[in-house]
Amino acid sequence: MHEVIVRALRYEAPGVLSLELAPTNGKLLPPFEPGAHVDLHLPGGIMRQYSLCGDPNDTSRYRVGIRSVSGGQSSQFVHRKLRPGEILKISTPRNNFPLIDADRYLFVAGGIGVTPLIPMMQAASARNKPWTLLYCNKRDADAPFLDEIRALGGNLSLHSSQAGTRLDVQQRLGPVEENTVVYCCGPEGLMTAVEEATAEWPADTVRFEWFTPRSRPADEVSGSFEVVCEQSGLTVTVPPEKTVLEALNDAGIPIPCSCQQGICGTCEVRVIDGEVDHRDSILSSSERAANQTMMTCVSRAKGARLVLDI
Ligand code: FES
Repeated sequence: MHEVIVRALRYEAPGVLSLELAPTNGKLLPPFEPGAHVDLHLPGGIMRQYSLCGDPNDTSRYRVGIRSVSGGQSSQFVHRKLRPGEILKISTPRNNFPLIDADRYLFVAGGIGVTPLIPMMQAASARNKPWTLLYCNKRDADAPFLDEIRALGGNLSLHSSQAGTRLDVQQRLGPVEENTVVYCCGPEGLMTAVEEATAEWPADTVRFEWFTPRSRPADEVSGSFEVVCEQSGLTVTVPPEKTVLEALNDAGIPIPCSCQQGICGTCEVRVIDGEVDHRDSILSSSERAANQTMMTCVSRAKGARLVLDI
């Protein structure tokens, strides 16, 4: 955990503020790669993950962008109460959305979903890799960080329902583009549309970052199963009403956790045996098929037993 001071709060677009967070000890913050996020701990036990959207080459400060969400505890606190000078705690950065090497990049953002993509566009420009951002907002005037993105020198394509320039996802992303990697972050409707449109793209060339958990089937059933903890030698029964994380915690085997929604990756453990019913919003289809890790806060067993490396 790192203690930081809110050095600045900046208006970025309607309903969007950015926070500049600097270490209180005068040292540098931990390094991070494009796509990383931190847990932001606010007064009153409020905690939420936010993507780092500042310059990875400058760890004298971090920047996060926060959209005001109706009923969202953390965003409402930031927008209504937080002031420069306040001391907060943040976690060490984690990255479930790393920028892999490619000849070119196609970024797709919906609103505040642009935040993890900003350091990626910056890195792509620095490596002389061509990139395009398909940037979707209700109105172009609502697009956060627009001037900054324009200055990065890529190919920017703005889409808004109000201007009648809504993105035709199937038409734009359906055809496979050679040696191109797609990074997408935004609301569930956009993410799902991109996922469906890119079904023919090669494995792992289309990557997603979910800010909220993806919807689960309403009729999803959760059964009981056993978890064998290889390191401790304990076997724990996970009842239908508990998560693996909760059952292990009850049995005295604490697993680090944060979001408890399958979107941050903190509770990931290695799977030794047994087939996982993956319910997280992090692992790609090939990572799920590999069955090597699971997020214990949401995922379960397909069969009667899992053996985990804990
Ligand atoms: S605690 Fe965040 S994915 Fe499990």
